[in-house]
Amino acid sequence: MDALVSLCKRRGFIFQSSEIYEGINGFWDYGPLGCELKRHIRDAWWKSVVQAREDIVGLDCSIIMHPRVWEASGHTASFADPMVDCKSCRKRFRADMLCEDQDAKLIKTDKGFALPDGIKCPACGAKDLTAPRAFNLMFKTFVGPVEDESSVAYLRPETAQGIFVQFQNVLAVARQKVPFGIAQIGKAFRNEINPRNFTFRSREFEQMELEYFIKPGTDAHWHEYWVAERLKWYRAIGLPEESLKPYVYGKDELAHYASACTDILYDFPFGMQELEGIAARGDFDLTQHQKFSGKSMEYFDAETREKFIPHVVEPSAGVDRIALALLCEAYREEWVPTADTPGEPIEAECGKQPPAGYEARTVLRFEPAIAPIKAAVFPLLKNKPELVAKAREVFAVLQRRWPCFWDQTGAIGRRYRRQDEIGTPFGVTIDFQTLTDQTVTLRDRDTMKQIRLTIAELPGHLANIID
Ligand code: GLY
Repeated sequence: MDALVSLCKRRGFIFQSSEIYEGINGFWDYGPLGCELKRHIRDAWWKSVVQAREDIVGLDCSIIMHPRVWEASGHTASFADPMVDCKSCRKRFRADMLCEDQDAKLIKTDKGFALPDGIKCPACGAKDLTAPRAFNLMFKTFVGPVEDESSVAYLRPETAQGIFVQFQNVLAVARQKVPFGIAQIGKAFRNEINPRNFTFRSREFEQMELEYFIKPGTDAHWHEYWVAERLKWYRAIGLPEESLKPYVYGKDELAHYASACTDILYDFPFGMQELEGIAARGDFDLTQHQKFSGKSMEYFDAETREKFIPHVVEPSAGVDRIALALLCEAYREEWVPTADTPGEPIEAECGKQPPAGYEARTVLRFEPAIAPIKAAVFPLLKNKPELVAKAREVFAVLQRRWPCFWDQTGAIGRRYRRQDEIGTPFGVTIDFQTLTDQTVTLRDRDTMKQIRLTIAELPGHLANIID
């Protein structure tokens, strides 16, 4: 994980937020490559969930909503984690994680939670912690010039509620019938007590949420359907089956209104952790908003002449977590044949030098659809104007369709290596043969094999693999 974190900074995937001021805990910035990676994740999700279907439409709500939204949803009263303070060093911790880290389990009581005996402060070692208290995770702010109780508002802790409160407006314009869905991508904010594991648990993060509205009684069917769909999507973007695990909630773990919930976990270097939760939430959210707003959330089924509040299945995924999982999955340290040696890349052995004829490389084996940069274009020599001009022509054609990279500096092998490290799947080299027969070499990042094809064939060949 340390090597990956260092690569993320060195190559411009992820920076600490406000780094020149020593950073701010739980916040991250995405650099030139990181923001391309996230954009491709969002695009792949939107394509699969909205664009490629007829039954789901998009929405983009404001981050700050009326505070009653959060009363109705239950967040104001109970969106809280149990926290404890160390009486000795005054640091604050999330009680359940503290217990987990010390191989113990937080005790549930009638009134809330209690710490088991022997739990100590991870900062100073003192066994002098307060009893767990609920800590609301919503960020509070004030709307308008007066800072009092009447102007309190919250940064949304999830995008989902925006979808519920706009349910009737969308229904009125989208010409959809139940079952249908509304999807939204956007930032959400949670004042986590202990942000950790790089970007995994952050205080500002991005969600991709779908509310799929269904007829009551069909919940189990649609829940199963969405778990299967979402697993398929993860595999398509490059997370293999063996590194994913669905975690099915037991009856005693479900919220009182939910009939099923499955988390999709990924095998991170720091353990199996959630990428997405898929919950069958019944009619809880729409019913609550009907109650709190006084506005009907009913749906009229014109075929059966029935009126009902739809039930909902909610697949809710985290963009930042998926980006981190893809980086972890793609990261490899390999030994590859040097320029004059034939052969395939082999996995590097930790702490050892590569065998004769091989050199070490770091590579990100992203799926082409997800890779931040799709192709790099190289004129073989930078001091031959005719090569550079031809390469510029090829670059212009490719850049119109995909994020591409121009590199004319250094030995060609070094240029390939630089692209391997950021996961660019293709290298296109323009050499003297190009000037005579209009062909280029196309080098594959993973196999390092090269083929020759014409400039005219190149965009179509790449499109078949990337798009
Ligand atoms: N809407 C579910 C979540 O934010 O986790």
